[in-house]
Amino acid sequence: MSMNILVLPGDGIGPEIMAEAVKVLELANEKFNLGAELTFDDLGGAAYERYGSPLADETLERAHQADAILLGAVGGPQWDAIDPALRPERGLLKIRSELGLFGNLRPAILYPQLADSSTLKPEVVAGLNILIVRELTGGIYFGQPRERKVLDNGERFAFDTLPYSESEVRRIARVGFDMAMVRGKKLCSVDKANVLASSQLWREVVNEVAADYPDVEVSHMYVDNCAMQLVRAPKQFDVIVTDNLFGDILSDQASMLTGSIGMLPSASLDANNKGMYEPCHGSAPDIAGRGIANPLATILSVSMMLRYSFNRADAADAIEQAVSQVLDQGLRTGDIMSEGCESTGTAGMGDAVVAALKNL
Ligand code: NAD
Ligand code: IPM
Ligand code: MN
Repeated sequence: MSMNILVLPGDGIGPEIMAEAVKVLELANEKFNLGAELTFDDLGGAAYERYGSPLADETLERAHQADAILLGAVGGPQWDAIDPALRPERGLLKIRSELGLFGNLRPAILYPQLADSSTLKPEVVAGLNILIVRELTGGIYFGQPRERKVLDNGERFAFDTLPYSESEVRRIARVGFDMAMVRGKKLCSVDKANVLASSQLWREVVNEVAADYPDVEVSHMYVDNCAMQLVRAPKQFDVIVTDNLFGDILSDQASMLTGSIGMLPSASLDANNKGMYEPCHGSAPDIAGRGIANPLATILSVSMMLRYSFNRADAADAIEQAVSQVLDQGLRTGDIMSEGCESTGTAGMGDAVVAALKNL
């Protein structure tokens, strides 16, 4: 199986965390004979500066040709005021949409060594292992029409549209159920069916798909309650399946259960498990350029890539084990720092994972 990987470091801390993830990938490549070949390009603000577009046609073509894509993060205040169609985030949305990456897996797993890093009590989060399955190419992020205008009375006015077709709901529900089948066999579908028509359809279709998965225990929850339950008793969840916007918000919230958003990787998959892999966090402009960002979410995204796109559980497991060993050693970036631990930076953390992986 060929392993052509397109690497898109992006903006802000993107290049810093990606440098560490690439070190780990290159070592795994040698150690496990993966045959990985890396190509580098730009996305987001970096692409806007280089190509005049946050996703150049040639980059999109490279993404189509690649077997998998590894992404850092995009965006930054310097591009907040440009034409909205050219914003870095548009490049990210376009690559997700053009590649049909509708199934976004965001696992929130608490490494036991980080029980003290979460802002929640250790007993609330101990043993946490939940998977948020987020619909990624539909809903309010892409719905048309959307418009900003000035009304006749001079008021500024804007609206977005939240559409879902039954086929879009069915395919993401299937991802959720398939994941539940290989995990704890519990699926909670999160919506706002007490208010939104799109959520009413969502719930109906999830119930139809449930008929094909009699072994999975299905529940439905309103998104406001889910936000509350995630901090009250997060271990009640196994798989959460939800729409694009709710999944965006709930996954950032879930990240704090694991200690930091700097720990949360993700996979965005198409119907054939071709995927793009990226940390759930953004470009963190507030800490960019200082060498202090946590690279583990990106390193763990490499592991997800090897597991889901290339079926290399051996290499994926080894990377996760190396990360766990480094946490055992007490090494911490600032975002996961706790008493008695040793502070390190982005490169220090990446080097430690490389050293641990070498010795496995
Ligand atoms: P953010 O995730 O970039 O940062 C939120 C907070 O978390 C910040 O305080 C940041 O310092 C911290 N943080 C994030 N990643 C970290 C890491 N690896 N290690 C340590 N701390 C980390 O979210 P934001 O500030 O709302 O957005 C900043 C920019 O990133 C915006 O332009 C936004 O659009 C973009 N963004 C991009 C992606 C992506 O590329 N997938 C995701 C989210 C946000
Ligand atoms: C994410 C990000 C993106 C999203 C932005 C940058 C478009 O927040 O990947 O979680 O909202 O999907
Ligand atoms: Mn987000």
